[in-house]
Amino acid sequence: MTPEALAELHRAAFTVERPWSADEFRDLLEARHTHLTCAMHGFALWRSVAGEAELLTLTVDPQHQGRGLGTRLMQRWMAQAARGADSAFLEVAQDNLAACALYARCGFATVARRPKYYARHDGAADALVMRAPLGAAPDPADAAGP
Ligand SMILES: CC(C)(COP(=O)(O)OP(=O)(O)OC[C@H]1O[C@@H](n2cnc3c(N)ncnc32)[C@H](O)[C@@H]1OP(=O)(O)O)[C@@H](O)C(=O)NCCC(=O)NCCS
Repeated sequence: MTPEALAELHRAAFTVERPWSADEFRDLLEARHTHLTCAMHGFALWRSVAGEAELLTLTVDPQHQGRGLGTRLMQRWMAQAARGADSAFLEVAQDNLAACALYARCGFATVARRPKYYARHDGAADALVMRAPLGAAPDPADAAGP
């Protein structure tokens, strides 16, 4: 995927957060340690440094959400990251319910909170820092609960 295609998908999916530009994606892709895990209608951008992986963004085309693609992308990038990292972390807005639920099902647990980190038109939302061990990620299909 080109930086332009990544930016277009990101703009379509991120309706609340500021979308990232093609130049921002180009810089990230050129940076050492950054990896792109792509599917036809989505992608995960992540980096791995000193035994720790970080999910930078996960994006699924709105027209293809809710069909398991986000789950498959999570499984793929976490498996790739496990080759060089023991754990992974990410940051997500607490009011991003879809992403929070997906991450929890993929083995991530909240380890820190940044109060009022994301600006909202009616206030602010906390950022959650979530962490998961790699190598033994649970299969989201096995997760119990609603
Ligand atoms: C978050 C995102 C990547 C999920 O992708 P997806 O392809 O829809 O995810 P899946 O179909 O694999 O759904 C996996 C789980 O996520 C959760 N989920 C997905 N959509 C949801 C929604 N609208 N509300 C609540 N939970 C939801 C559910 O737990 C779901 O499992 P279930 O369908 O068995 O209940 C997608 O919604 C997206 O791109 N959002 C905009 C960008 C974004 O917020 N990215 C993450 C922050 S970096």
